[in-house]
Amino acid sequence: MTDEKQEIVADILRLKKERNAVILAHNYQRGEIQDVADFLGDSLGLTQQAARTKAEVIVFCGVHFMAETAAIMNPDKRVIIPDKEAGCSLASMISAESLRRWKEEHPGAVAVTYINCTAEVKAESDYICTSTNALKVVEAIPPDREILFAPDQFLGTYLQEKTGRKMHLWPGYCHVHNRIKTDEIVRLKAEHPRAEFVMHPECGCLTSCMPLADKVASTEGIVKHVGRSPREEFIIGTDAGILHRLRKENPRKTFFPAAEEATCEFMRLNTLEKLLWSLEDLEVKVVVPEEIARKARRAIQRMLEVGDPGGSVQPLPEHPLD
Ligand code: 13P
Ligand code: SF4
Repeated sequence: MTDEKQEIVADILRLKKERNAVILAHNYQRGEIQDVADFLGDSLGLTQQAARTKAEVIVFCGVHFMAETAAIMNPDKRVIIPDKEAGCSLASMISAESLRRWKEEHPGAVAVTYINCTAEVKAESDYICTSTNALKVVEAIPPDREILFAPDQFLGTYLQEKTGRKMHLWPGYCHVHNRIKTDEIVRLKAEHPRAEFVMHPECGCLTSCMPLADKVASTEGIVKHVGRSPREEFIIGTDAGILHRLRKENPRKTFFPAAEEATCEFMRLNTLEKLLWSLEDLEVKVVVPEEIARKARRAIQRMLEVGDPGGSVQPLPEHPLD
């Protein structure tokens, strides 16, 4: 690391203390950001951390919907994001209005929405889920209830496959995970026959790649699997940003990205410099109007209760939430 970068890191750590701030970072963030984070994780872990932190300021190094989720869980805290342009192609594939119309077409159906969506879409949902707990969430819904699953069609397909349950799927996808191709997986597996292939359920090649995979999991699930596996080589089917953490935590293991070009441009908008500026100015603040936050919180809370083995599971209402 250059002297200049080291100075920035020192300033970040000093300001973090002065501001009573916590730095939460997603597994796809630039390595330099991962290295200064207080907590590194997937969408579920970051939501849980945001829900329980005692810090006054949450600096969210991830994309906008993730920072919004932290703001929804912490109406009294200041949540800031280093670059407000850090969006998500998948989240932008469904609007609250289109979800409302879809629900009207299926009265009585339960709307399960992947956390990669806006606060307004969360407010229209009965349940939120992440790739870590989606299976549990779907299994918690009585078998006689119709399910609308949005916006990721590939995670939806994976859930149908695992549960044997038919759901209505919104045709959304992540443009980064769409860059991972079956042909390349087949080639990499032939080139590295001892390697395990682990993939994220957002992959566009899910249907043809799932039979080739040793593990399908969220980013945190991938980190855990790799850490526990006795194998020494891994083909990683998700955003290549995760390789920084995998290599750091497993220095003796070797990792091959399924696609070098599969890196989320939105995630990479956050830089060490922007993180420092955000701590200096306590900007850019992420605000969710309370009326929307209140409804969205209900759907997120329901997800957290399903995923918490010690928690009480809130029964699903007889009628979908209004
Ligand atoms: P995880 O919850 O698995 O970290 O996924 C978030 C995401 O945006 C994947 O593209
Ligand atoms: Fe969104 Fe895809 Fe980027 Fe994840 S990798 S934040 S789903 S655009």
